[in-house]
Amino acid sequence: MKNGSIVLQVFRGEDSAGQEVRFEVPAVEGMVVLDAIHYIQANHANDLACRWNCKAAKCGSCSAEINGQPRLMCKTRVDEYPDQEIHVWPMRTFPLIKDLVTDVSWNYEVNKQIPGFTPRPNEPVPYRMLPEDTERVYEYRKCIECFLCQDVCHVLRNHDDKSLYYGPRYMVRIAGLELHPLDTERRTGLLHGKAGVGMCNITKCCQEVCPEHIKITDNAIIPLKERTTTDVYDPVAWIGRKLRPRRDELAAGQPTGALGTVRAPQRFAVKDVIRLKSGDRPMARVGTVLPDGRLEIWVLKMKGTQQHWKGPKTIDASDVINNYGPLDEVGIGSKLVEQYISEDHAH
Ligand code: SF4
Ligand code: SF4
Ligand code: FES
Repeated sequence: MKNGSIVLQVFRGEDSAGQEVRFEVPAVEGMVVLDAIHYIQANHANDLACRWNCKAAKCGSCSAEINGQPRLMCKTRVDEYPDQEIHVWPMRTFPLIKDLVTDVSWNYEVNKQIPGFTPRPNEPVPYRMLPEDTERVYEYRKCIECFLCQDVCHVLRNHDDKSLYYGPRYMVRIAGLELHPLDTERRTGLLHGKAGVGMCNITKCCQEVCPEHIKITDNAIIPLKERTTTDVYDPVAWIGRKLRPRRDELAAGQPTGALGTVRAPQRFAVKDVIRLKSGDRPMARVGTVLPDGRLEIWVLKMKGTQQHWKGPKTIDASDVINNYGPLDEVGIGSKLVEQYISEDHAH
């Protein structure tokens, strides 16, 4: 900031031959970079191209690179850069159209390749879900499609060929679908193949720039990598799936042998789940740990394809042995603990 004004160096041009142009703008308290760009359009260069809509960090249109960092122009205050010139560039991962506007249409083409939400055909509506499942899925749905994460991801940025990886934004979308407790589609083949989840090396750069603070790597990419690895490389899980028909297959009236009727549910995104090796109670969800060390549990009751949790009952925590099973059985991130339980323990 200089004599009550700020200096912006704004990229201008329609191809790589473009260059920065210097503008001086009067500083106003609370001013954001987008305000300064609007001032330049109104007073110095009314053909300066920039994209914006909401000016409230919600539409995801005003993405740019500000002093080299992918940021929303409407959410970046100029006073974050005291005594510095502010360099404003378009996102460099996408083809330039003009000045600050890039062609992000590749992202929409990728989006079309992802199978959408697929509940069972006879899923009762309105949908009923556990509150923790709703919360979990909500994080992914906060995405405003600003594509700042796509811009910063070195896999997309450093390869002219974008056919290797869908990018972090679409890992977020796929996680929102894969972790939805009522979704029946399986996208691990796509993740392993065209979506290229294996290309991500967890640098977390995408997570750092997300204006919605979505934990992109922690809560979307890593769980998807785990799920994909289990599906693609774990022969035990693979055989398990062959033996146990999916929930949607059961619903469609396909043969259900003894294994089919007691199989674990596909999509319970609950915190901790224990597998019970007794009677007709194959699974239980862990609730509170009581002061005396015992656990409150909800037992999963299966009746054909219908299932509901019944509880709380209490069991001795000391009965739980640390034997984490295949995560994929109960939803990403869930712990599966094998436990022998007798009738006496469930009161
Ligand atoms: S963590 Fe993965 S998706 Fe995110 S920027 Fe790094 S490589 Fe790209
Ligand atoms: S995940 Fe975050 S950074 Fe990526 S497009 Fe969505 S809101 Fe933008
Ligand atoms: S103008 Fe909508 S996010 Fe910036």
